[in-house]
Amino acid sequence: MKAYYERRAPEYDDWWLGTGVFTNRRRPDWLEETKALTRTLGALPPARTLDVACGTGFLTQHLRGEITGLDQSPSMLELARAKVPEGRFVQGDAVELPFSDDSFERLLTSFFYGHLEEDERDAFRREARRVADELIVVDSALHDEVDPVEWQERVLSDGSCWHVYKRYFEPDSLADELGGGRTLFAGRWFVAVQV
Ligand SMILES: C[S@@+](CC[C@H](N)C(=O)[O-])C[C@H]1O[C@@H](n2cnc3c(N)ncnc32)[C@H](O)[C@@H]1O
Repeated sequence: MKAYYERRAPEYDDWWLGTGVFTNRRRPDWLEETKALTRTLGALPPARTLDVACGTGFLTQHLRGEITGLDQSPSMLELARAKVPEGRFVQGDAVELPFSDDSFERLLTSFFYGHLEEDERDAFRREARRVADELIVVDSALHDEVDPVEWQERVLSDGSCWHVYKRYFEPDSLADELGGGRTLFAGRWFVAVQV
């Protein structure tokens, strides 16, 4: 997963924006729902927030408060720094966070949790509880055209081919899996749960 995202960084926002290799992907209402999701995140009360696996900072830029982004990919972090110049960005491992206990009020992670296999999920949840009071997980919604768990073949614009583990979620079962919480966002494409 690490090499894949480092290589994908320059074209990652194409997924969000429906450009590049995503230009012809049929995703009705995707852009409208993206806006609704960013509005929901932007309406959260300002907080000392850690965005784990922040990627290019596409969602990070909508968070309010004192924002720290963490990602393993230097290229992703460079793009995130450009989008959120007032943020602090740290290279590190999401399942071994380089922060002391209770460093943050909120930990948000988007489109990362669903890539974790079972043993990594436990480690991530433990780390999230250790460093922050509140956890928000944003991820992909389960819909008709996908299975809850898939191994996907993904091709980047340079023709390289990668195999990626990916889960899709119903908000209630995601909340249960995270130890109980409330649904912040339930759309056709995205779900967000606050624990
Ligand atoms: C699908 S992208 C999500 C990016 C961003 N959160 C978003 O919503 O657009 C997954 C991100 O997880 C990062 N990542 C993967 N494994 C990681 C790990 N073990 N520790 C930190 N970041 C990781 C990748 O570099 C990539 O930026």
